[in-house]
Amino acid sequence: MAVEGSEEDERRSSSPPAPLFAAKDHDVHFEPEAYLNGFYTAATNDGAMTLVLFFLPGILYRLPDKIDNILDLGAGPTVYIPIAFRHRADAIYTSDYALANRTTLTEWIQAKKDSFDWTNVCKWIQSIEASRESSEAMQQLARSKMRAVLEVNVHKPDVVQGVHFSTSAEPVPKQFHVVSTVFCLEYASETLDQYEMAVASAVSLIRPGGYLLQGGVLHATEYSFGNRRFRCFTLTQEVLLATLEKNGMCVDSKSSGFKIIHNDDIFILVSQKK
Ligand SMILES: C[S@@+](CC[C@H](N)C(=O)[O-])C[C@H]1O[C@@H](n2cnc3c(N)ncnc32)[C@H](O)[C@@H]1O
Repeated sequence: MAVEGSEEDERRSSSPPAPLFAAKDHDVHFEPEAYLNGFYTAATNDGAMTLVLFFLPGILYRLPDKIDNILDLGAGPTVYIPIAFRHRADAIYTSDYALANRTTLTEWIQAKKDSFDWTNVCKWIQSIEASRESSEAMQQLARSKMRAVLEVNVHKPDVVQGVHFSTSAEPVPKQFHVVSTVFCLEYASETLDQYEMAVASAVSLIRPGGYLLQGGVLHATEYSFGNRRFRCFTLTQEVLLATLEKNGMCVDSKSSGFKIIHNDDIFILVSQKK
């Protein structure tokens, strides 16, 4: 994730600054292709993504072996969560705020020919899992678990605004065994009030005793890709933990219900709903 102050920003300082959009403009200005090409063509394209992808397979072992259902909240155009959960989850839901991302997610589920190539990310996940599946087999298994692509907005009391695409006649669960949300809650927000609302929204989608898998960045003021920038909420570790606790999530690192991994300003955590 190219965040303000990074080396990449310094390299770009001689060219005119990319336009800076508000967090709420993700639905209009997010470009799935530029995002995927910028961060996911190789798992090592971006330090933040590398870290999340590196720790993800390991942190999954903090979750139950068998997960009834998982929702990836604010997945953008990405499918690494379904791929990483393919053996553990019975049913996988994905979601985003931007129509362009929901369309990209649907095209991947439908295995459309021109979809983004996830092979490098699959190989990276596979190397950490030490599994022997082909990238195609990994994606096919993940696709077979997909139930729906949802329209979501973490700033609305009804977070799930609609069903964009569904593979199942089953109604969408009101709450999920696991909700994952990576680089979303602080990027969907600009103020503390908005961030607190976003966290409360994410937690409202978790059933009692269920889990939140959250990844994100601390201390950023914006992020950039494809010649555009988006403002974000400047998250601190204190606010991260206090907001989870306020919403009834475990933040006690001595308990089995909480684990956080940091590297510089990037974090990934699992927290259980009390
Ligand atoms: C930086 S991307 C993260 C995408 C993906 N989770 C990843 O790990 O690469 C931020 C995502 O948050 C979504 N988002 C922005 N505002 C939102 C809102 N109000 N509700 C839900 N998602 C939102 C954007 O559409 C975008 O896909």
